Amino acid sequence: MPVELSGHAVRAHFLEGDPMTDTLTSTPVVRLPGAAAEARVRADDRGHVFHSWSAQALIDPLPIAGGEGAAFWDYEGNSYLDFSSQLVNLNLGHQHPDLVEAIQRQAGRLATIQPSMANDVRGELARRIADVSPEGFEKVFFTNGGADANENAVRMARLVTRRRKVLSAYRSYHGNTTTAISLTGDPRRWPNEPGDGSVAHFFGPYAYRSAFHSSSPEEETQRALEHLEQTIVLEGASTIAAIILETIVGTNGVLVPPPGYLAGVRMLCDKYGIVWIADEVMVGFGRVGEWFAFQAFGPAPDLITFAKGVNSGYVPLGGVVISDRIAAHFDTVSFPGGLTYSGHPLACAAGVATFEVFERDGILERVRDLGARVVEPALRRMAERHPSVGDVRGLGLFWAIELVRDRETREPLVPFNASGTDAAPVAALAAACKREGVWPFTHFNRVHVAPPLVIAEDDLVRGLDVIDRALDVADAAAA
Ligand SMILES: Cc1ncc(COP(=O)(O)O)c(C=O)c1O
Repeated sequence: MPVELSGHAVRAHFLEGDPMTDTLTSTPVVRLPGAAAEARVRADDRGHVFHSWSAQALIDPLPIAGGEGAAFWDYEGNSYLDFSSQLVNLNLGHQHPDLVEAIQRQAGRLATIQPSMANDVRGELARRIADVSPEGFEKVFFTNGGADANENAVRMARLVTRRRKVLSAYRSYHGNTTTAISLTGDPRRWPNEPGDGSVAHFFGPYAYRSAFHSSSPEEETQRALEHLEQTIVLEGASTIAAIILETIVGTNGVLVPPPGYLAGVRMLCDKYGIVWIADEVMVGFGRVGEWFAFQAFGPAPDLITFAKGVNSGYVPLGGVVISDRIAAHFDTVSFPGGLTYSGHPLACAAGVATFEVFERDGILERVRDLGARVVEPALRRMAERHPSVGDVRGLGLFWAIELVRDRETREPLVPFNASGTDAAPVAALAAACKREGVWPFTHFNRVHVAPPLVIAEDDLVRGLDVIDRALDVADAAAA
């Protein structure tokens, strides 16, 4: 039974050889019988696919048969509302017809062309990105994803400043290539050390668990900036090329910067001649109701890195938006970096379509509205009802519910970096969500709420209700 969702139909999923017609090409697509197809997918995966961040023998990836809008489904007929937008990249949802069509059309015209040639969709996407960036940002360097965007932003900062060191926050993730994983503060860095030796970490603001014992957001801002300045001075200001910050820390907690913090970072960077790199890989392109999240806070950085939401990950794409001052350095000096697939036409065509959909469907306004009118009040109610909820925070369609054993002591429901039995209460909560058809994003002692930006309002409400009920599991574990 098709269901209306944000202007395009969601097909009821097809099982057991149900022939279906592809809506764009009118070609009948016959699927393998569900059980046989599932067995094949599982066998090929277990036999041959080496998965990210995993002990290979200890995982059991769910075979996925399809997806549409805010939902995806397995081969057994279980459908899930995707409350994590895959890896917080699927901003326009599964199988958005405009994006699919743009990729198909581009594949029929010119499927690929090397980066040193000029190409229409590559140029158009770069121009559109520059148009929504602050004044003084005209150039875009395209990469394959977020890690290499950060890697190349750091390279630019190092070349322009002729300095080497980079500062980043402990609570951060910046990607999995050598410099990006060294910049990363979270435990994914540990087994990759030593990496890029010219990185030092500092504490960013986190009002709920202040590293500075502050008692208000204003105090948190002031003390976090004092700490950052001390770090700069003690690390040697003249050695520091860049400070990289996730504008809103993503996987490590949905940490929204308190008022004045980013303005203070801007001032410190200006004072010491340091390049500010805003990592917008997770929060850019509408996640918090802005093209770039820093636009909700005022000051502009020197380099902006992006990926994920630029085309919802339909074809891998990332990049660096470069301020004119930095871009000018490379007017007559060659930039020593490049990638075979930089500005891939299929990826860029999906990016151009993303802009068209955002503008036509008012996606930014929608996200701001749903965040303020639906998500925030629902989470505040959950915080009142559930003793295990210590804090809720976020913006737009990007929120975290932080779980504790005790609201007074704020002891986390599960320890930092918990796994196995230590992480059982959060695993049980996730399982409760899945049983009711919601695929949640959980990390350490938190549940994040990050659905596709096109989610229908009643689906959003339904998913939040499921999380609300699943929090009973956390309450029981905390008691
Ligand atoms: C803030 C941030 N930066 C960088 C990355 C790395 O992006 P990618 O996985 O595309 O390399 C991620 C990925 O989750 C991210 O969340």
